[in-house]
Amino acid sequence: MPRTVAIDGPAGAGKSTIGALVAERLGYLFLDTGAMYRAVALAAMRRGIDPDDGEKLSDLVTTVRIMIGPPTKQDGRAYTVLLDGNDVTWEIRSADIDRIVSQVARVSGVRDAMVEQQRSLAGTGRVVMVGRDIGTVVLPDAERKIFLTASAGERARRREEELASRGERRPRHELLHEILRRDQLDTERPVSPLRAADDAIVVPTDGLAVREALDKVLAAIQRA
Ligand code: DC
Repeated sequence: MPRTVAIDGPAGAGKSTIGALVAERLGYLFLDTGAMYRAVALAAMRRGIDPDDGEKLSDLVTTVRIMIGPPTKQDGRAYTVLLDGNDVTWEIRSADIDRIVSQVARVSGVRDAMVEQQRSLAGTGRVVMVGRDIGTVVLPDAERKIFLTASAGERARRREEELASRGERRPRHELLHEILRRDQLDTERPVSPLRAADDAIVVPTDGLAVREALDKVLAAIQRA
């Protein structure tokens, strides 16, 4: 079995869902790095920092404490996120955070701090880490690299379902617009843009149920 598994891909490709299941199956630690950028975005929002103010955001990451650990409640969460000791697991999933997180994640000072923390969390191995730049930047030596994809339409549909399951209704065309905007910000940023590592196995998930996508990813991990 590989020591580390990197799973990257665009928003809504199923990284968190599949990553958590892969980790469970292998008995590995699951680390969703998107949650860390979301926690920084929440800290910025609470302090009234403009998501385009790179200097203030770079200062901010030196003062906040972000921790991700096993679930502390049985409310459907895959992990618990603490910001300065407070549980923000659900707050970082709000539409307000969706809107600003890609801007916050563009800032190199923010990325440097997050990447350092992510590498130290992966240090002991037996970890499944999901994000945008895990296979390319954070863990370029990961033994298995998966790049999950799905069409933007499919990803908007999944997001609509996910929000509906939590009682939030949003029109699909709005979600599609946001997904396309985030894709653009994530792929066109100069620092660590979203792309598949040269040695990643690309797994398209359009039209696949969660279990089918999981089987494909597990097969790719075992085959490589
Ligand atoms: O996977 P997610 O939607 O929770 O990620 C939130 C944002 O964080 C996403 O717009 C891009 C950014 N991100 C990143 O730049 N690098 C990562 N490794 C993970 C997420």
